[in-house]
Amino acid sequence: MTDRPAEKPAAEKPPADKPPAEKPARYPGRAPDELAASRLVGSAGHRRPMPCPRSRILGTGGYAPERVLTNQELERLVDTTDEWITTRTGIKRRHIAADGETSSDMAAAAARQALAAAGLTAADLDLIIVGTISPDHPVPGCAVHLQRKLGAHDIPAFDIAAACAGFIYGLNIADQFVATGAARCVLVVGVELLSAKLNWEDRTTCVLFGDGAGAAILGPADWRLQPSGREGPPAAVDQPAGILSSMIFTDGSQTGALQIPAGGSADPPTLEALKEGRLKVHMHGKDVFRTAVRNLVASSAQTLKAAGLTTKNLDWIVAHQANLRIIKGVATRLRYPLEKFVINIDRFGNTSSASIPIALDEAVRDGRIQPGHTVLMCALGAGISWGAAVVRM
Ligand code: ACO
Repeated sequence: MTDRPAEKPAAEKPPADKPPAEKPARYPGRAPDELAASRLVGSAGHRRPMPCPRSRILGTGGYAPERVLTNQELERLVDTTDEWITTRTGIKRRHIAADGETSSDMAAAAARQALAAAGLTAADLDLIIVGTISPDHPVPGCAVHLQRKLGAHDIPAFDIAAACAGFIYGLNIADQFVATGAARCVLVVGVELLSAKLNWEDRTTCVLFGDGAGAAILGPADWRLQPSGREGPPAAVDQPAGILSSMIFTDGSQTGALQIPAGGSADPPTLEALKEGRLKVHMHGKDVFRTAVRNLVASSAQTLKAAGLTTKNLDWIVAHQANLRIIKGVATRLRYPLEKFVINIDRFGNTSSASIPIALDEAVRDGRIQPGHTVLMCALGAGISWGAAVVRM
């Protein structure tokens, strides 16, 4: 077992954190009655029952480290070929964090972009949720470091260890906070620095994963702020933007399919565990593959049904980028054209919880996903944990 492959070009260091400015007002410039106005959109007037979104995505952001690791470079590291990796996974290259770059650095870069896209600042946030299985430290969580780096004082910040499903879990949780009025503006981040968690001598895992971060800002569905940050009328009631439905699942009987066996209380991080590679990712790829297609399809169908929609109503699907063959399997079984899937696995590999928000942000920024589009997101990872969300942008 070895450490991460030596860095090639020296990647630029992220900007040093600024010391936190003066403590900002919790809801600067907003009248208290806006909180009441942020309740659910009423269902009265709908011709047929339809979910009324409680929260909507106000802005997205993404970040990938500068350094790119190609399949050809991996050929020199382990017994593999570009041909095997490409045909079995669809991956051609992935990004690898620079030495010293942390998960919270990447998360902060993605979060700043998302805040800018939403026309908001860190002072507007009420809650930070970070999906990650590769936090800066075992304790405290990555979200805590992110809070400090953003200068978002006093608000709650916590991690979710749902692996590749982390972002969907985050969306689901954020939606409930906004729905109850417990929070108005929530930052949801998926970030992974899995290159530090890989055994770079294990060809069955090290070729699959990459580093990166993606973020989304959620706010009340009928908030007056538009995604551009400009004020505008509330979203149309007949086609309200927001999270139309989301569902999350876990099957704890399959914990061994994908895990880092040691480093926790059951198997502490001893020298022996380190030498035996038990502090690194272990995966039974075939088992995960089988359950992935089945569960992604089932949860997507359930979530669509809960939203009163079918695949015919969708403009895009953003599925977790674990394996192009899994995405193709989902496309076939949902009978949805592959061209309408946002796919970037060739350039990013599997970035676990970051994969959906990175792909979502790319498609929003390049104009594929437009305001008003209906997007299905679905992800599955270690746990096994999985879930799906239907969102009108
Ligand atoms: N290069 C060359 N050969 C390889 C490599 C490699 N990098 N890796 C494995 N092989 C070999 C195996 O040793 C095996 O050889 P053998 O037949 O002589 O024994 C052969 O290739 C086939 O191996 P399989 O594991 O059967 O390959 P498979 O087609 O299943 O593909 C893969 C493996 C890509 C891992 C696939 O199973 C997969 O994508 N699984 C799902 C991964 C996933 O979705 N993970 C969840 C998210 S991750 C998270 O939560 C953090």
